[in-house]
Formats: sequence, C-alpha cells, structure tokens
Amino acid sequence: MTFDKKSQLSSDIEKYIDPSLAQEMTSGTAEQKVAVLFRYMEKRGQSFYDEVVTQLEHALQCAALAQQNGASATLITGALLHDVGHIILDEHNADRAFLDTDLTHEEVGAQYMEPFFPEAVTTPIRLHVPAKRYLCTTDASYHDGLSEASKRSFRLQGGIMSDEERNAFEQIPHFQDALTLRRWDDLAKVKGLETAALETYRDIVQQCLI
Ligand SMILES: [Fe+2]
Repeated sequence: MTFDKKSQLSSDIEKYIDPSLAQEMTSGTAEQKVAVLFRYMEKRGQSFYDEVVTQLEHALQCAALAQQNGASATLITGALLHDVGHIILDEHNADRAFLDTDLTHEEVGAQYMEPFFPEAVTTPIRLHVPAKRYLCTTDASYHDGLSEASKRSFRLQGGIMSDEERNAFEQIPHFQDALTLRRWDDLAKVKGLETAALETYRDIVQQCLI
C-alpha cells in the first residue's frame, strides 16, 4: 500500500459526499470562501463525533492545540479541517454504521479541499489515519493510549504497518506534520473544554487558500 497517491473514490463512497460546500466555495472572494466553509462547519458540526464532543468541538480543540504549539498556518488549518470528511459524508455518532464502515473520510476530506488549499494543508488531512497506523507500529504505548473508538477504527483502517508501508509513508512530504496532527487529534476529545471560537481562525485559514 502507498499513501502518497490519491486513491480513486468508489461510487459507493461518492454517493455519500455532499457537493454543496464545494459548489459554494468555487466562486467568490477569499473572504466569502472562508465564510461559506465556516458556516458549513458551524451548521453541520453540531452532530457528535463520539460520546463527549461534537465534530465542531473536536475540530476547534485540535486547531487550538496546533496554535498553542506554535504550528504553521497550514498545519493549524489542517488541524481544523482534518475531519471535515466526516461532515461532508454526514458521518456521526448517531448513525449506527459510523466507524463500522470505513468511508475513508481522510481521503474524502483531502480531495474535497484540494481545489482550495495547498498540499501542506491537505496532506496532513489525508495522512492523519495512516499516521495512527504509523504511530501504533512505532510506539507501543501509543496504541494503549487511544480511545476505544479509535482502537476500533484502527483495525478497520488496516492495523499495524509493514516495513514497506512504513518506508513509503516516510517518503511523503509533510508526513511529520501528519504525525504531529495525529497526536493533537487524539487529545482533542475533552468534554466541556473551553476553546477559542471558529472565528479565531478566519485569517489563518484565509491566508492558506490557493
Ligand atoms: Fe479527528
């Protein structure tokens, strides 16, 4: 398996993808594109990611960790948008099939955002799932620290990496950013945590648009 090439999404997955956001983001100024994206995240991000946080809370907690750790604008934007694929696919905790069927939200999110953002944003989005596999493979304590939902999806997502897969992963530009993002992703599930509002990231996201 390689990770650096876009995989073709199957029609089974494509039928779940909401085209409305991309359609709205295609025209307009940079300000308008970000406004459309943020409105979509506010509206669609109210569903639950897991038992304790909504999709929007998860995104905001992840972006806050990126910002607190002095990440680049592109990595903060990647952190904020890393799970946008779940929203675009309308996957959430109330749906019983969530996490049982892998609709490859990381690939959906990355491909969806590619017309609007550079690879420094979309590659960490694409790689945040294999990054979990990489970290489980190279750091035994990492797997033990995962949430139950994350352990469950880890098995669905392919489990431990072979040496070949690990080497291939390490050849991809921005793979380190994906590993860093992954560790924030795992921490960004704190019930009731106060975070900066989505608005805080408006300028950062806007400066990353292509
Ligand atoms: Fe996540």
